[in-house]
Amino acid sequence: MAIVITVAQQKGGTGKTTLAANLAAALAPSRRVALLDIDPQHSLTRWNQLRPKTAAKLTFSDVSGWRVTGELDRLKAAHDVVVIDSPPQIDTDARLAIRGANLVLIPIQPSPPDIWAAEGTLKLAATEKRRAAMVLNRVPPSGKLRETITAQLQRDGKPLLTATIGNRTGFATAFAEGLAVTETAPRSTAANELRALLTELLERIG
Ligand SMILES: Nc1ncnc2c1ncn2[C@@H]1O[C@H](COP(=O)(O)OP(=O)(O)O)[C@@H](O)[C@H]1O
Ligand SMILES: [Mg+2]
Repeated sequence: MAIVITVAQQKGGTGKTTLAANLAAALAPSRRVALLDIDPQHSLTRWNQLRPKTAAKLTFSDVSGWRVTGELDRLKAAHDVVVIDSPPQIDTDARLAIRGANLVLIPIQPSPPDIWAAEGTLKLAATEKRRAAMVLNRVPPSGKLRETITAQLQRDGKPLLTATIGNRTGFATAFAEGLAVTETAPRSTAANELRALLTELLERIG
């Protein structure tokens, strides 16, 4: 039975779709990976349409509404990992995706609105008795902001991962080709950060 990672956060633009695509593609050479896009904006679907035939194979699915749970069960049965990209709001679909998760990954950019928006997702994960992990994304090069926000989140007892992802143009470049940074630039800082995130996530899931 597959492990399920649901990328969720009610604020848009925090990096849900980027991380879902990159994590799935980074795992694809070694695991049977499925991606489930339940965001009506379907940017992940567009990414998948751009994905070269020669790239590591991923199963792709986009469903919504009452189909989410059944589709997730179907994907779980035939894969090792299912990654779900969810919409920028907490609706019924997002709730089902969180309910189905082994781990809810919440990307936040190091700024107060992102942290406030993450509260709702953390609460929902707690209600559904699901483990959650926050990851700082698009962290600027200067260390000050990261330190302040990290200290604040740790003080508040938030489940912040050690891994962080910097603000790296490589993510957009790779996305435009239907690829992950680990595929377009495997030795880049972005790829190293992504692999570190993946390792930490898999450790957390156990
Ligand atoms: N680590 C990053 N570095 C640079 N740009 C990023 C990074 N993560 C996301 N982005 C960019 O931010 C924008 C929003 O990301 P996206 O994944 O679509 O967010 P969401 O799915 O949460 O709305 C996109 O243009 C994406 O390329
Ligand atoms: Mg998105």
